[in-house]
Amino acid sequence: MQQIVHQWNAELYNEKHSFVYDYGASLVDLLNPKPSERILDLGCGSGELTAAIAAVCNEVVGMDFSPAMIEKAKGRFPELIFQRGNASDFKAIPRFDAIFSNATLHWVSDYKAAATCMYANLVEGGRIVVEFGGKRNVQAITSTLRDALKSRGYDKQAALDLWYFPSIGEYTTVLESVGFNVTFAQWYDRPTELADEREGVLDWLSMFAKPFFMEVAKEDVKEIKREVQEHLAPQLFRGGKWYADYKRIRVVAYK
Ligand code: BEZ
Repeated sequence: MQQIVHQWNAELYNEKHSFVYDYGASLVDLLNPKPSERILDLGCGSGELTAAIAAVCNEVVGMDFSPAMIEKAKGRFPELIFQRGNASDFKAIPRFDAIFSNATLHWVSDYKAAATCMYANLVEGGRIVVEFGGKRNVQAITSTLRDALKSRGYDKQAALDLWYFPSIGEYTTVLESVGFNVTFAQWYDRPTELADEREGVLDWLSMFAKPFFMEVAKEDVKEIKREVQEHLAPQLFRGGKWYADYKRIRVVAYK
């Protein structure tokens, strides 16, 4: 898997991709934060879930790799603490009672380092509550995209492996190998309604799949996105709405 630095468009993220944090509300319920706890929101994006956790608990830190997202989060929630950091290489003092992470860990290619780092930054008995893309996540979208790229000779782009989408067996094994005790693990199918009714998949590709279009001729980019969306209509367009074929894994583990 390649580590590619994704340039986030924080405005577009809030305008059209608020489903990322809307779905995270039930993960905050699973976290069940306590007022006395110090909690890290790892991959906080524009800070909505950090704020939801902070509504209950005194000390929350939002961390994100993207400077644009950190700026956005600081602007939206100036009373909260946000800092830039790398999920596979950060050190916090004091350590956290819990680390929460929604829709982030699939972006971290060095997932073992991230697991080690989360473990190191927890107090004894501390927990992680995480959710991200699981095995076969966005498979319909990515396989259709790869076919469209290959058919035009963009083999290098089609071969890109950008994300980490493990099964719960794979991921719990990684967590156990660094010392965690896993108490809960779930894989589930979560078709995710896309905000744009006309350009749903096209818009998703523009927001999240940019690296696949590196060095692709401008006119081909447009055509490929349109073709991918058309091919996917029978599968992903239902009742006048577009859905992305998301699969999630959700895990709770203790130090
Ligand atoms: C996800 O949340 O599953 C996801 C988002 C962007 C790219 C890939 C996966």
